[in-house]
Amino acid sequence: MHLPAPEELITRTAAFVEEKFASEGSGHDWAHIRRVWLGARAFAKAEGADTLVTELAALLHDIADWKFHGGDEEAGPRAARAWLASQGASDELITRVEMIIREVSFKGAGVATPVGTPEAACVQDADRLDAIGAIGVARAFAYGGHKGRALHDPSIPPVQHSTFAEYKNNGGPTINHFYEKLLHLRERLHTAAARRVADERHAFMEQFLAQFLREWEGRDLDCE
Ligand code: ADP
Ligand code: NI
Repeated sequence: MHLPAPEELITRTAAFVEEKFASEGSGHDWAHIRRVWLGARAFAKAEGADTLVTELAALLHDIADWKFHGGDEEAGPRAARAWLASQGASDELITRVEMIIREVSFKGAGVATPVGTPEAACVQDADRLDAIGAIGVARAFAYGGHKGRALHDPSIPPVQHSTFAEYKNNGGPTINHFYEKLLHLRERLHTAAARRVADERHAFMEQFLAQFLREWEGRDLDCE
């Protein structure tokens, strides 16, 4: 089969993913994928990682998320393989992309998610940066709304999941997600460039949480 040039393969993959995610409302929209793509590409350039593999993996990292495929962690790598094979990509390239998609996902505060390659580090960092800061706050509540969850319930404490299975089955209020995942992400980034971006986003989330709890408890009413 005719092997497409790298630029051509990236352009076609971006068009394929954009079309597939055009009407997605759970936080896994094309805008998220696009931000991860641009972030991962910037980190790959800064780190001297392979940009073709990084960009393809970033574009395909949420193509068939386990959360929407009955918990099947292989659905994503399988869908990425099918697409890249249909485009005539080499088996070596496809295998590298599959590996990154397997490694990118967060699996619980107590579960290590090491990356095996600089390309995986760039994609994982870009994906995690998009889960923190103002966009991270918006995505968390969009996801919680999609799942019909409460914003907050102080009677349900957050859990530090120590296995992926436990994390997968969590169904708590959205504020808990900050303590179960989002506030841990900054410390788990790999690249220096992503860490620099994360500082401001992390501080913003902390400020958001402090203000949210202030309003929840009526501490800002100030009407004695
Ligand atoms: P990513 O796309 O960064 O890999 P996920 O697929 O885990 O992240 O989730 C997509 C978005 O939905 C992220 O912003 C994430 O924080 C949010 N999300 C995932 N699980 C929950 C949850 N239990 N409560 C609230 N938000 C969640
Ligand atoms: Ni993602």
